[in-house]
Amino acid sequence: MKFFIDTADLDAIREIKAMGMCDGVTTNPSLMAKAGRTDTDALLKEICRVVQGPVSGEVIALDAEGMVAEGRRLAKVDDHIVVKVPTTYDGLKATAALAADGIAVNATLVFSASQALLMAKAGAAYVSPFVGRLDDVSEDGMQLIEDICQIYENYDFETEIIVASVRHPIHVVESARLGAHIATIPPEVVRKLVAHPLTDKGLAAFLADWRKLQEGR
Ligand code: G3P
Repeated sequence: MKFFIDTADLDAIREIKAMGMCDGVTTNPSLMAKAGRTDTDALLKEICRVVQGPVSGEVIALDAEGMVAEGRRLAKVDDHIVVKVPTTYDGLKATAALAADGIAVNATLVFSASQALLMAKAGAAYVSPFVGRLDDVSEDGMQLIEDICQIYENYDFETEIIVASVRHPIHVVESARLGAHIATIPPEVVRKLVAHPLTDKGLAAFLADWRKLQEGR
């Protein structure tokens, strides 16, 4: 299973990449705003240099023509760029056009199996179902992942599933259990994935015993 990091924070990306936990990066306009850099193409280029794997940058246009123009521009920033396109009617048109140009598209803001099916047919290299936001409105985000996995398997789609809007470790573990190709994980969730209170408790007990042993010498 591949781990993408869902952030535009270069320091966090560098740290997680050094641990071998970063196969790619996803950004969106909100994450770019959080990073506080207005030179977004330059930032994407720097991220690509660190990651040496797929890095998603999102288009802002809402019409197909605008998305295609923006996507073509973004694709020139670096060979690792994946163009994030919103899953709308115009997004479908733009995805088909960009895919025909050989540009990798990440279909974002996917909330239903029908959206994932159409974006795969349009030629998206990746789809990003937002599990946390579905959970937020009392829907079952992980059920959507299961449905998309099944549909893609039925028809041998090559589109990879990026589980997005990941909020906690269970989202990642369930994604792995279901066989999703990728989870895009915020840096704080990477920390939570490795943490366990019994590990901390066990370590504290080992160290306390070790100190006692040294004091008894
Ligand atoms: O990858 C999509 C992600 O950035 C959205 O996450 O937590 O804002 O729903 P969230």
